[in-house]
Amino acid sequence: MELENFEQHGDEGDVWFGISAENRIVKYLIDSKTRRDAKILDLGCGNGSVLRKLRSKGFTVLKGVDYCQKAVDLSNATSNAERDEDDELVAIQFEQLDITSPRSEFLSSKFDVVLDKGTWDAMSLSDERDNRLKAYLDLLNAVLSVGGLFIIFSCNFTFDEMKEQFGHSSLDIVCEVPAAHSFSFGGKQGVTSTGVVFRKTS
Ligand SMILES: C[S@@+](CC[C@H](N)C(=O)[O-])C[C@H]1O[C@@H](n2cnc3c(N)ncnc32)[C@H](O)[C@@H]1O
Repeated sequence: MELENFEQHGDEGDVWFGISAENRIVKYLIDSKTRRDAKILDLGCGNGSVLRKLRSKGFTVLKGVDYCQKAVDLSNATSNAERDEDDELVAIQFEQLDITSPRSEFLSSKFDVVLDKGTWDAMSLSDERDNRLKAYLDLLNAVLSVGGLFIIFSCNFTFDEMKEQFGHSSLDIVCEVPAAHSFSFGGKQGVTSTGVVFRKTS
């Protein structure tokens, strides 16, 4: 349906947590002087919007995986449509992959940056949450290079909860990604999503 919408109406589908979380990821990578040729993986890439934004800012080695083949097809369609408009844009690799049962060839790839915007949120809504977290951490441990960054955005978990789930022995907290905007409700200030950066230390 999403692919049909894109093909017929140019509708790319949802940008989860709005455009501001996407901008915070891109700004963080630029401000932290991440090399433009860093290998970047987006886990649960949806329509590939974050990777396309990174490409527009000059990042060149980009891969997205999602367990939903329709998301992979939509990502390929939107990414290729942009390349048709501008042939200087690099190709983005999209691949169908279930984080909970990755193929062994995938586990031998290495990335300098791994992104998650809303994917752990979606995966954690299950009775199987503990097993899923273990599978997620195993994958992360296999594919993130030592010294590499894991950047996760969540609407469900606080900074402390994400630290508890992901801040295990080889992942150190670097920082919380600053909020671009905050909202006010009942006189209290809040941000719409929490972003945390970890670095793999060993
Ligand atoms: C809330 S959406 C976020 C999509 C995208 N990251 C974004 O910010 O627009 C969650 C995504 O995770 C994907 N997903 C959920 N469980 C997954 C799994 N086990 N393996 C890979 N992708 C998964 C879904 O198909 C969906 O595209």
